[in-house]
Amino acid sequence: MYEQDSHAILNEIIDEIKPEIRKQELHHFYTRLGGNFFGILKLFRHLYGGRSDFKLQLKHLVETMARQYIARPKKFKKTDLAREKDSNWFLHQKWVGMTLYADGFADNLEGLRKKIPYFEELGINLIHIMPIMDCPRGASDGGYAVSNFRRINERVGDLEDLRAVAREMAKREMLLVMDVVVNHTSDEHEWAVKARQGDPAYQEYYYMFGDRSIPDMFEQTLPEIFPQHAPGNFTRIEEIDKWVMTVFNTYQWDLNYTNPAVFIEMMDIILFWANQGADILRLDAVAFLWKKIGSTSQNEHEAHLILQLMKDCCQVVSPGVLFIAEAIVAPVEIIKYFGENALDAKECEIAYNATFMALLWDAVATKNARLLYQGIKNLPDKLERATWLNYIRCHDDIGLGFGDEDIRQAGYDPRPHRDFLINYFAGKFKDSDARGLLFGENEKTNDARISGTLTSLIGLEKALDEGDLQKVDVIIKHILLLDSMLLAFGGIPLIYYGDEIGTLNDYSYIKDLAKANDSRWAHRPKIDWQKAARRSKSGTVEHKIFSELKKMIAVRKEIDAFADFNNREVLEVSNPRLFVFVRTNHRNPGDRVLVIGNFDAHPQYLDLAEVAGVLPDGSSRLLDLYSGKAPGMFKDRLVLPPYQFYWLTGQ
Ligand code: GLC
Ligand code: GLC
Repeated sequence: MYEQDSHAILNEIIDEIKPEIRKQELHHFYTRLGGNFFGILKLFRHLYGGRSDFKLQLKHLVETMARQYIARPKKFKKTDLAREKDSNWFLHQKWVGMTLYADGFADNLEGLRKKIPYFEELGINLIHIMPIMDCPRGASDGGYAVSNFRRINERVGDLEDLRAVAREMAKREMLLVMDVVVNHTSDEHEWAVKARQGDPAYQEYYYMFGDRSIPDMFEQTLPEIFPQHAPGNFTRIEEIDKWVMTVFNTYQWDLNYTNPAVFIEMMDIILFWANQGADILRLDAVAFLWKKIGSTSQNEHEAHLILQLMKDCCQVVSPGVLFIAEAIVAPVEIIKYFGENALDAKECEIAYNATFMALLWDAVATKNARLLYQGIKNLPDKLERATWLNYIRCHDDIGLGFGDEDIRQAGYDPRPHRDFLINYFAGKFKDSDARGLLFGENEKTNDARISGTLTSLIGLEKALDEGDLQKVDVIIKHILLLDSMLLAFGGIPLIYYGDEIGTLNDYSYIKDLAKANDSRWAHRPKIDWQKAARRSKSGTVEHKIFSELKKMIAVRKEIDAFADFNNREVLEVSNPRLFVFVRTNHRNPGDRVLVIGNFDAHPQYLDLAEVAGVLPDGSSRLLDLYSGKAPGMFKDRLVLPPYQFYWLTGQ
């Protein structure tokens, strides 16, 4: 295909586009469309070029974009222009996020808006509200089974409430992150209802089969995501005697992206949420977007093409809006969701750093950083204009997603090592303080994942039950060590709501039929605001965690070397209990911060000679930026008490 070809097609579409669209003030839209059209056409043709209605579908796509551009509020168009000029704006270290359920954190959106001062108090300026769109009343996978993508669940409020939240946040320069569940819909969604009534056009929105022959073929290679409560990947729809693909729960129907109508609908929905004031959209389960017989149907090349096309279309209508890829997959696969062979992210600007998350948990259980070091050393560099979302806990289970090769290089045998970790977090060893729950146990593959809050997994629940106050303090240090790694690593730290006040597992889900078989609910708390109030009372667990975290966030924001510009290097040191990396200010290479964490319950030391040359020559004394004090030293050895971390600079 040549550029001329692309111009000709674009001109043809614009000529045909509805007159009321042509009349609008679309200057920026046309410029951006012109700039991106070659890419859009190429991708759209690759995905859908074989269809006879290809051009008509392409025209629908352009019309959809134009309509959403026209609907885009002026203030967001202004933000788009500003962000286009300052395109690395999100790599700055000032961003610190929190992820939450609107009804778990507060009762509803109005309550959430009133709690904005709480975020400000802690220093949070990016808020990810998990799905709040209409979903079934009973089981809805925590809102990830959407029955209407354009309506807000009345239990948390309505669109006006959300806009009010967005306005308040914008006033305070906070970013709003919202979910778009792109891979599937609830079986109560209008499309699913029509498909179930026999409408062939809507049956085409999903993967539906008249008998088991194709499903059986798929099953040979498809893994099971929820092997316990939703085994298999297809569900029978009695009314029409068909099988529909349901990779997650039986009530979550996978969308069929081989149908361009599905792509266009979803693009429209993405742009709709951009127009409600979301700064960043979290695209859910993106690894699953394309299905192929004979494969795991994860991370397929076409899934990447769909994301590239979504990004290109978003660039035309709302270029200030970023995407987060939720792809909890192998390290070498995650990195591809930024887009390959480019400097700028061509797919999602931000991706969950599931690798770092899982590695940190390994270091917690083993009390050393061998695998953590190995895994991070082997983590490929990300693109320049892209960043990680770093987290310790989120609403999902913890999967031990690091590679077997990394485990071997760290000196372990993969299978027993993974078993050890699972058993450790399930609290099966005498010396394990963890109170985790198993999730997704699969007898066929012998796999399992882990549920539980950060605090219960580290051991706070057990220590409190035992009334061991000394231990409580050590565990708090352990929690803060993990926070310190997140905040220094490079990328956007995302704190899981409740962790800032040491929230423990909540076992009440067992009594709720819609939740009982999904242990992830143990770590999806309803915030107890009386407990939260204790954050102001010194001596309490809440105060110890909250106040230190608050300070850590404030200090992070002042450290330029913590901005994310591929400016991190992990260092190999002889003491495996320590995890050590250096961050360099991209504008001033002499300005460096040496980050050190002791993952052991006993004091450790590091010979400074091992990190000689990392800090600027001539700096005779070290300063820990976090505490504002000199670190523990004995002669030329740096001393780290149990679970101590330092953010060191020379002075
Ligand atoms: C994502 C969500 C998870 C959900 C799944 C299916 O992984 O984070 O909670 O179960 O997608 O929507
Ligand atoms: C996600 C992840 C998986 C996770 C699940 C939700 O898509 O791929 O690791 O466990 O869905 O729990």
